[in-house]
Amino acid sequence: MVNIETNYLGLNLKSPIIVASSGISNNIEKIKELESNGAGAIVLKSLFEEQILAESSHNISQDESYGYDVHNYITTVMRDTRLSDYTKHIKEAKSNTNIPIIASINCVSDKEWIDYTSAIEKAGADALELNIGILPSNHEFSSEQNEQQYFNIIEKVRKSTKLPIALKMSQYSAGLANLIKKLSWTGHVDAFVLFNRYFRPDIDINDMKITSSGVFSSSEDISDSLRWVAVMSNVIEVPIAATTGIHTGADVIKQILVGAQCVQVASTLYQNGTQQLSKMNDELKTWMEKKKFNTLDDFRGKMAFDSEKNTVAFERIQFMKHFGGIE
Ligand SMILES: Cc1cc2nc3c(=O)[nH]c(=O)nc-3n(C[C@H](O)[C@H](O)[C@H](O)COP(=O)(O)O)c2cc1C
Repeated sequence: MVNIETNYLGLNLKSPIIVASSGISNNIEKIKELESNGAGAIVLKSLFEEQILAESSHNISQDESYGYDVHNYITTVMRDTRLSDYTKHIKEAKSNTNIPIIASINCVSDKEWIDYTSAIEKAGADALELNIGILPSNHEFSSEQNEQQYFNIIEKVRKSTKLPIALKMSQYSAGLANLIKKLSWTGHVDAFVLFNRYFRPDIDINDMKITSSGVFSSSEDISDSLRWVAVMSNVIEVPIAATTGIHTGADVIKQILVGAQCVQVASTLYQNGTQQLSKMNDELKTWMEKKKFNTLDDFRGKMAFDSEKNTVAFERIQFMKHFGGIE
């Protein structure tokens, strides 16, 4: 009998497959369904700092006669309402399940949401995922200035809560490997979640409007996280949860082979239903039995980047050989 348990953020997971932050865990019935289909843990939908700020300023802009105190009051009320809805959801999720419930905050600065973390901790969340989406699109900012935001945020959050912290980040950095290594050295990050999938702009040429291309990923989108988990898993001691493009049991196996501690999935659950979790767990177990691996540790990292072994493909960006014969 194979054992697919793993440890993540100091929590014991029955399966390495975690439900990624998304609206799928917005209601308790769905959360129970995710648990009964074998989810290792659930990351709740993020509280979005940007959204809260936008909502407050929208309400304020309805009446320009408001003074400074009223502006502050409205912002505070909106934040408190959102936060109390969120903490209520955490409490409900905790009292209806036996698997870890991870809260999530999306931050664009080191300001607004710092007070949120202690409320989330009090509500009983098992851990906190910080979704920090930094797009280095401001040409006035150097790479150091962009990257400094990660350090500022995690330092402040670390001081505000004792919960284990997972940092979910983007792949946008000219010095990504170095950035991840330095973030791991801060001691403030208990796991990395590589990588978030962002809004992907496209253009409708008939209406000449900006649109969004596919909200959901496909298995082909796995290569970015596969590459970077492979490159980083031997370099840092902090565990990595892989996400984006993981749709099948085979995708889970690939990520563990390159050194992921666990994986997070969203799109495949929207597309194939919550029962996809149990299918993926079964595929993982069947493969392990066939390969005679009893635990995930028996094969974790076997195909991670290692300069001594033939894994240099993870550092290749040009196709060369692959394109060579195509005319
Ligand atoms: C409908 C939907 C809503 C999402 N909402 C959030 C969110 O609130 N916070 C977050 O960090 N990620 C969010 N994500 C991103 C997922 O957590 C995940 O990182 C991403 O979809 C990649 O995984 P996948 O390829 O399995 O979909 C969302 C994804 C989807 C599809």
